[in-house]
Amino acid sequence: MAPISRVLLVSDDTLWQTEVLAALDEAAMHLPNPLGLCFAGAPPGEAAMTTLARDGEIQAVLIDNRLAEGQGAQAAVELANRINAFRPELSLYVMLVDADEKAVIQALASHAVDGYFYRDELDGHDWFRIVAAELADKSATPFYDALKHYVNMAKDSWHTPGHAGGDSLKGSPWVGDFYDFVGENMLRADLSVSVPMLDSLLHPIGVISAAQALAAKAFGARQTFFATNGTSTANKVICQTLLTPGDTLLLDRNCHKSVHHGVILSGARPVYLDSSLNPRYGLFGPVAKATLFDAIERHPEAKVLILTSCTYDGLRYDLAPIIEQAHRHGIKVVVDEAWYGFARFHPAFRPTALESGADYVTQSTHKILSAFSQASMVHVNDPAFDAHLFRENFNMHTSTSPQYGLIASLDVARKQAVMEGYRLLDRTLRLAEELRVKINATGAFRVLDLIDLLPEEVRQDGILLDPTKLTVDISASGYSADELQRELFEHFNIQVEKSTFSTITLLLTLGTTRSKVSRLHDAMLRLAKQQRPPRQVGRLPELPRFTQLACLPRDAFYEGGERIPLLDEEGRPNPALIGRVACDQIVPYPPGIPVLVPGQIIDDAIITYLCRLLKAQKGVDIHGLIEKDAEYHLRVLRNDELAALPKRRSND
Ligand SMILES: Cc1ncc(COP(=O)(O)O)c(C=O)c1O
Repeated sequence: MAPISRVLLVSDDTLWQTEVLAALDEAAMHLPNPLGLCFAGAPPGEAAMTTLARDGEIQAVLIDNRLAEGQGAQAAVELANRINAFRPELSLYVMLVDADEKAVIQALASHAVDGYFYRDELDGHDWFRIVAAELADKSATPFYDALKHYVNMAKDSWHTPGHAGGDSLKGSPWVGDFYDFVGENMLRADLSVSVPMLDSLLHPIGVISAAQALAAKAFGARQTFFATNGTSTANKVICQTLLTPGDTLLLDRNCHKSVHHGVILSGARPVYLDSSLNPRYGLFGPVAKATLFDAIERHPEAKVLILTSCTYDGLRYDLAPIIEQAHRHGIKVVVDEAWYGFARFHPAFRPTALESGADYVTQSTHKILSAFSQASMVHVNDPAFDAHLFRENFNMHTSTSPQYGLIASLDVARKQAVMEGYRLLDRTLRLAEELRVKINATGAFRVLDLIDLLPEEVRQDGILLDPTKLTVDISASGYSADELQRELFEHFNIQVEKSTFSTITLLLTLGTTRSKVSRLHDAMLRLAKQQRPPRQVGRLPELPRFTQLACLPRDAFYEGGERIPLLDEEGRPNPALIGRVACDQIVPYPPGIPVLVPGQIIDDAIITYLCRLLKAQKGVDIHGLIEKDAEYHLRVLRNDELAALPKRRSND
């Protein structure tokens, strides 16, 4: 399908506008036009903004600087700023009048204006070519193009990978079906650093570097790096880059386990900030603003603050004041946006973490945009960024044989986000709202609102909810979460994102279609019509609060420890664990947030929680537990090991 790139000419001089549109239409008819440039006019002010909000196919805006008689250049500058704030991915041109050239260029100098034309030098072909070239640059996919080109050159492979473009598999009576299943192009494009024209992820100077530069521009970063082992690795790279052994790090207890791994690797001294808890739905919420501000005050030695925004459940911090406060104290801010990488491309989701001032942002492009699994990005806006140190750490964690399909998918996902992200996200938002209304109308299921999700202690903190993540309360349906998931999967062909005791989570992305919404609605309606009596939901296991650290996580992790069973001989939470110090991270998955980190003192609430979780949710994965002879064990420090370690209490 050929693309459409509408260019909007904003002017209140209708005569001039008609003349310009005719000249540009004429150029579009006679010049090559692979991006489908077409032209439309709009009056200035609210009318222009409404058109931009409604029409997701607009790619560029030409603003007449002779707007609104009597206001001089001011109206055009204001409009350019508004457009920039609303949809920063749009290309912007200003049509100058001689007299105001200097003032306008100065006023817009720090904004993303892509160029200027003199109003009285109308040249349809010239203007067309310039706008078309800029859109071509923006929509380019340098790595993906080079990869396709290389595959089409059909070079003989005398290099890695060993399947040699799939030739080792093709036609095999044993494994030929794998070739057919994944497809010829996937295998031909599975290449390696042996092909110099495809650049190197570990030292990018060619097409990967160009693709990363386009991503940086798109996401509003100074620099962007492609990561092919997910945000899990990206987080570890950032921790190792910014922290050395003994450095203090403030971190959201709610952080993904990879950040806690980063703490072990870097040897940092973590100050865990207790996340708010929503006991009703068994969810971790953000850290209260007051807790954050207090920690920033009390730890002037802290080097880094790491937060997760939005969370898996879609809760997003009011980041700007927190980041400002951290910066005032010389603390760098890292935001894990694993679940929020699309936010830049629709005003309903902004400001992004980078727009709020974050120094480093990690994003799972694969989770919520169109990249392949494991394909993530690291965005950097730190003015004191140490590129060498970052590179050393990045390369320490990056395979020397990265998957080229992942890199291409990042290039393509960025192009899509820039060129049609607004339109698709607008559709996703509408589908989310439609689904919310339909689910609520079933009577048995209810989509939770922000107020339901927000723990009491953070209600005044300006936290917002990403409406594309629907948490559905199922407690009135008569189904347990496990039963409901099974029912949806087996009878309705539907796989949901995750569940807790009384909720399921539905994730809407650019790939959500109206058909999928209808099928899900139909399924929930049928299930609701069964009118099962509400289940006696047993008391939810109380989410345990953070206790204290007895030593640095790294120190505990690297000791041998001993293994103690989770249950005692009577099958009750084992009291022998109380007061002991964990060596491993214990993480129920999903959501991947640890209930214990290495070095943390175990208390009764934590053991009881783990036991109840295992009993109540049969299918739950708890990473870090050791399964031996059908019994679960925890690795804890031996008393002699603990005595020999440097003591450190956590939140003091
Ligand atoms: C908040 C958060 N950060 C990081 C990650 C890890 O991302 P990836 O799967 O890209 O490694 C996850 C994964 O679930 C996550 O929820």
